[in-house]
Amino acid sequence: MKTRLILSLMLVVAWVTACGQSGQRGKQAAGNDVPVFLDDTKTIEERVEDALSRMTVEEKTAILHAQSKFSSAGVPRLGIPELWTSDGPHGIRPEVLWDKWSQAGWTSDSCTAFPALTALAASWDPDLAKLYGVSIGQEARYRKKDMLLGPGVNICRTPLNGRSFEYFGEDPFLSSTMVVPYVQGVQSNGVAACVKHYALNNQETNRFLTNVKVDDRTLYEIYLPAFKAAVQKGGAWAIMGSYNLYKDQWCCQNEYTLNGILKGEWGFDGVVVSDWGGAHDTDQCVNHGLDMEFGSFTDGLTSGPSNVYASYYLANPYVEGIKSGKYDMETLDGKARRVLRLIFRTVMDRNRPYGSFVSPEHIAAARKIGAESIVLLKNDGGVLPLKDEGKILVVGENAIKMMTVGGGSSSLKVKKEYSPLEGIRERFANAEVVFERGYVGDTGGQFDGVVTGQDLNENRSAGQMVADAVEAARDADCVIFIGGLNKSNFQDSEGADRQSYELPYGQDAVIEALAAVARKMVVINISGNAVAMPWVDKVPAIVQGWYLGSEAGHSLADVLSGDVNPSGKLPFTIGRQLSDYPVQTEAQYPGIARTEAIKMGPMEATIFDAEYSEGLYVGYRWFDHESIVPTFAFGHGLSYTSFEIGEPKVSGSVEKGLTFSIPVKNTGDVAGAEVVQLYVTARNSSVERVPKELKGFSKVYLEPGKTATVKITIGKDAVSYFDAGKHEWVAERGDYSALIGTSSDVLPKTVDFKY
Ligand code: GLC
Repeated sequence: MKTRLILSLMLVVAWVTACGQSGQRGKQAAGNDVPVFLDDTKTIEERVEDALSRMTVEEKTAILHAQSKFSSAGVPRLGIPELWTSDGPHGIRPEVLWDKWSQAGWTSDSCTAFPALTALAASWDPDLAKLYGVSIGQEARYRKKDMLLGPGVNICRTPLNGRSFEYFGEDPFLSSTMVVPYVQGVQSNGVAACVKHYALNNQETNRFLTNVKVDDRTLYEIYLPAFKAAVQKGGAWAIMGSYNLYKDQWCCQNEYTLNGILKGEWGFDGVVVSDWGGAHDTDQCVNHGLDMEFGSFTDGLTSGPSNVYASYYLANPYVEGIKSGKYDMETLDGKARRVLRLIFRTVMDRNRPYGSFVSPEHIAAARKIGAESIVLLKNDGGVLPLKDEGKILVVGENAIKMMTVGGGSSSLKVKKEYSPLEGIRERFANAEVVFERGYVGDTGGQFDGVVTGQDLNENRSAGQMVADAVEAARDADCVIFIGGLNKSNFQDSEGADRQSYELPYGQDAVIEALAAVARKMVVINISGNAVAMPWVDKVPAIVQGWYLGSEAGHSLADVLSGDVNPSGKLPFTIGRQLSDYPVQTEAQYPGIARTEAIKMGPMEATIFDAEYSEGLYVGYRWFDHESIVPTFAFGHGLSYTSFEIGEPKVSGSVEKGLTFSIPVKNTGDVAGAEVVQLYVTARNSSVERVPKELKGFSKVYLEPGKTATVKITIGKDAVSYFDAGKHEWVAERGDYSALIGTSSDVLPKTVDFKY
């Protein structure tokens, strides 16, 4: 018996050892038979170095630039795959031809269009930003895209900026807080987020030719934080340079912003990607920190023969420069190392998930994010939520116009976009829902060959349309006007800024005419930017709707019906008129043309200098400083319930974390969410400070009658300013106040503290 036991034990030991050895052998075998760069058991850095050591100069430069509209070469000889990129921040762009912007005509690339990023910002909910990033990353992964060209985090400096809808609003803290989970969510799929447009791309007018002049403190306190957060907290694997210039260097080849700040000060280990056509010369691309060049010449924006990829600045000219000794191998290896790191983080990560596309989960996410982003600006007399009864008149082109198509590179192709009118008809099935056009805006509906298929043509005169709408309004129980901007040129669109702050197409007159006869009325402004609302006192209920994507109609109907209690807060200030804003002179915007042209690739170009002379005073910082009362303030947003903010308690210290515990009670009779906001005022600073700055916020969902304690912790960041002279952040000793409330203009609680 004993002998058998010993034999058995010996067998077990032998088996375990064999496994261990074979496992080890397996690894050793991998080590012997399989190159390190292909061995998953090695670290990314080990694999990068091994791959680099095997590559020729030509192969190293080949991975630094495009081979087609949206892809860069791999190393076929070594089995290193090519890298595929795709727009955009709101959904995965439909497939285009190899070397053209026009459609490839696929039938499998209709995506989920998620709400625009300004909407996501308006949710003030980092958990939703994570959901957003995970979902859009899954769609990118499923479409075999390794790098998503988004999110955009440029600060909204002027409400005329055509691309505000792609960004997170006017405040660096809100933008920074919301971009981090979005990036992490995307990258959890093994897809790189490519955060854009770095930096100072705050207008579309002259976007290729604007040289931004801004003081260092403003640059570091206002325009860089969201990029820094995306890199240092979000771990972004890629950053896209912007078209404009800073310190007379294009931002895709900028010594200061790329080598100095991004890679130097922030320690960015990822890839700097040019915007499409943003690279302009080999010397600066090589020496000023660009790692991947896309869209040069063939970007559709500048002339040039097709398939010029070999003549890209980082292609043959670079190879020739290396071989002539003009450029050193160390710099080339540095670029190739970063691109290989991106490749191993994405396309060569065999363990990354497979993604999913237009799943019920993604549709539900789009709907949820949309509903949570909608901002109830005004609701006098409790006009909202609406009951599912009576006659509801819906007026306005934005009730029917598809908004997922258009607006530039973020344009999408979807199987279905629920319009506001469809959503309202579906949800208010017991009511009589009637539609009147009210006005004609943009009857077009295509971008890069994606067509909406809508026939928006109208035969009636403008006057007749208004008369018809007013007539229909007379016996309606409620009028819902749905207007705003759209994605056509000079509206919310890439490549051109708005030309006025007012609503276009005569909408103000239509709203006024309806308000004069309506028993109850709601105006829903669909836009990515602030607009003038001269009728604000004549309309009892106003809603800021956004470009809400595939589920627009459902998200809106969810809120209009009360199925979802609105909890959005404005991510930017809505001023009464354009002159309320800080950007007033031509020198500030769009900038003044120089007399001397400069070289721009093969061309000569006139540069426009834009002076950011308003400095730190952007958005509510300006309105506070000038004591200008806006139509609706940054951070404003109402609910169908009410909330009470109790007395905050403070614990800890600024050094280790100063925590404000703030009781919040739902004093109404429906569940809802409130965003508790904390702004910091420096009371006796030795330097100029803006009146207050957002330094913390927390969204809390409460059942009626319930109370919760919200905790907001601030640290030295909250008392710091950027000292341009010392070129460092200074956490200044002194007296401060924490202003706590539910909007930048509703801050009932003040807690003084020292640092
Ligand atoms: C565009 C945009 C950028 C986009 C790129 C590719 O011009 O500026 O946001 O990702 O080109 O379409």
